[in-house]
Amino acid sequence: MGDSSPARNRTPDPEKLNAFVGRFVADLGASFHGATIVLGEKLGLYKALAGADGLTSEELARKTATAERFVREWLAAQVASGYVSWEARKQRYYLTPEQEFTLTNENGPAYFPGAFFVAASMYRDEPKILEAFRTGTGVDWPDHDHDLFVGTNKFFRPNYLANLISGWLPALDGVVTRLEEGGRVADVGCGFGSSTRLMAQAYPNSDFVGFDYHAGSIRAAQEIAVREGLSARTRFEVARAQDFPGQDLDLVTFFDCLHDMADPVGAVRHARQSLNDEGTLMVVEPMAGNSLDENINPVGRVFYSASTMICTPASMAQPNGAGLGAQTGDDAFREIGRTAGFTRFRRAAETPFNRVLEFRP
Ligand SMILES: C[S@@+](CC[C@H](N)C(=O)[O-])C[C@H]1O[C@@H](n2cnc3c(N)ncnc32)[C@H](O)[C@@H]1O
Repeated sequence: MGDSSPARNRTPDPEKLNAFVGRFVADLGASFHGATIVLGEKLGLYKALAGADGLTSEELARKTATAERFVREWLAAQVASGYVSWEARKQRYYLTPEQEFTLTNENGPAYFPGAFFVAASMYRDEPKILEAFRTGTGVDWPDHDHDLFVGTNKFFRPNYLANLISGWLPALDGVVTRLEEGGRVADVGCGFGSSTRLMAQAYPNSDFVGFDYHAGSIRAAQEIAVREGLSARTRFEVARAQDFPGQDLDLVTFFDCLHDMADPVGAVRHARQSLNDEGTLMVVEPMAGNSLDENINPVGRVFYSASTMICTPASMAQPNGAGLGAQTGDDAFREIGRTAGFTRFRRAAETPFNRVLEFRP
């Protein structure tokens, strides 16, 4: 190692230091601001601003049954972060079409407040993760803060709404025809079941069962299915990926959960045994390349942090947990599929946030 190596030269370069401090201030602002996004979503503050020509802090407080002094401070924080716009002369606050779309439209493809519920849960669970670092034993998914479960559903559902029926299922070989005719589907690790219900709505001739080992998520999935009038065509049951019930299935899906599992090979092997010989295993995973260098980008940054605080500890919570991590590349999944008895593998579709992996017998 020469003298110019990063490890030897300990004197900060003033220009680089300045740039790094600037980045630190931006990151600090974002991480503090995240808590106010969760408040805005929980109190309905963003939604109350939607469609309005502009509200004063008093009007917004009245509309949301909240205290004006706190609302005024919250509004200042939103304006400073660019999440709310304001007209100083009239002391009125409003959302631009872009702010309204991303902050209030739960059925739009770019609805982001849910992601910050996940961030809030990471801060609350940090003491548990700290202990995990010391002991080497993980933190199981069900042992996390409740906002993780709510936030995961809020964060992922818009993405499924935008892509699952229109893009991802049609990208799989022969799956749409099977579902239109009437197929049997297991959605494994379904969480609150948004993916299950979307598929059930689109393919009324098919039979859908959502499985998850977290009883609280299954209860939530059942309640939403009743509310949406879908409980006759979708069932939700507590079961593990390694041994969920069902045979001769046409499609097994894992939405953003295989890398969280302690035994991904066991889960994929069980999926293979549950499928018929024409069946398909669909695995949706976070976007990632095969190496750290390929994942050094804003999306990789989000997923590596979530993986440190949530996914890797979840997988390591069981003895001999695989600890794949949320940035596991296609090469590793191909190998898992081969070990578990699948002979064909391909990346069938992708979006900036996700990969859709197809496994065939
Ligand atoms: C990141 S969440 C994704 C939830 C849902 N698929 C979605 O996309 O919104 C991961 C889910 O996997 C579930 N999970 C993890 N390991 C599991 C296992 N071995 N068997 C069944 N479910 C599991 C967790 O309980 C959690 O609901």
